[in-house]
Amino acid sequence: MRIILVGFGVVGQSFLKLLVFRHNEFASKYGLRPRIVAIVDRGGAAVNGRGLDVDRILKIKKEMGSVSKDPNDGSPYLSANEVIEKIEAEILIEATPTNIKDGEPGLTHIKKGMKTGKHIITTNKGPLALALPALTDLADHNGVHLRFSGTVGGGTPILDLGRKCLIGDRILSIKGILNGTTNYILTEMSEKGIEFESALRMAQELGYAEKDPSLDIDGFDTACKLVIMANWIMGKKVTLKDVKIAGIRHITLRDLMNYAKKDNTIKLIGSIDEGLEVKPRGISKRDPLCVPGGLNAVTFVSEFAGEETIIGRGAGGMETASAIFRDLIDIKTNLSAKFRI
Ligand code: HSE
Repeated sequence: MRIILVGFGVVGQSFLKLLVFRHNEFASKYGLRPRIVAIVDRGGAAVNGRGLDVDRILKIKKEMGSVSKDPNDGSPYLSANEVIEKIEAEILIEATPTNIKDGEPGLTHIKKGMKTGKHIITTNKGPLALALPALTDLADHNGVHLRFSGTVGGGTPILDLGRKCLIGDRILSIKGILNGTTNYILTEMSEKGIEFESALRMAQELGYAEKDPSLDIDGFDTACKLVIMANWIMGKKVTLKDVKIAGIRHITLRDLMNYAKKDNTIKLIGSIDEGLEVKPRGISKRDPLCVPGGLNAVTFVSEFAGEETIIGRGAGGMETASAIFRDLIDIKTNLSAKFRI
């Protein structure tokens, strides 16, 4: 499988590290032999149709800042769009940062990838939050798969639980903590009495927070994840403009102390039932959703199975990279099944 990787930050580099680490296992267990034919970062590209030397590329990125500095395969003036159009590959992995204003540059990368017949795996929430119904149609039209399990829950398979495991039931509603940064902040504030700004700085140091932390704090990251879940799991055709959004900026230590008196606390909860909504809510400390630190927790309410809650780490490079492999294996399995028929 030839792969183009666009966006080479923490997630992209973790994907390559995992590939080096588990290469033999992927080949023997799943028949998956990924060949990275191009990588694009802010400084340009590295391209090699026979497959890039992954160890060397990781070293160059670390020491020189950009894959384009590779003396053999580097191309400082090659853009992501040129690579996607000109380089032959089966898969495009789009891992540029989330932008919820216009979804760019990820949205254009994904569309171009589909139009040139590539299956898409993305960890970028912006294009999905703004245009998931249209992107699903475009993928169908071009006969390609679109997968994005790392966009919700990091490595925790929240999307698969809802879409695959609960397929025999009818999901009535979903609610949960979908943002590690805000959960970390609220936990630090309520358990250690730390002020909002210091807790945010700590979340940034731990690598949970988005490049623009307003995405986390003001509820937009949770809203993006709700949109993805509503489309993928519940078949709703919604985008970010359909979500009512409130964040946690105004929550004070005093608010949290008042809730604590009744063994309750405040969490930023995203919910999907009649509508989609993100807002800080008071919940019991004994509620299964009441998880600490950077964890995510999602409760599915189904007609027959009742309530089920999945808990796991919702962010992190290696965690999200494992979700990319989940998508790769899923696409490979789908393609193999198609060719067997
Ligand atoms: N900023 C996000 C979070 C990262 O804090 O959960 C994962 O989407």
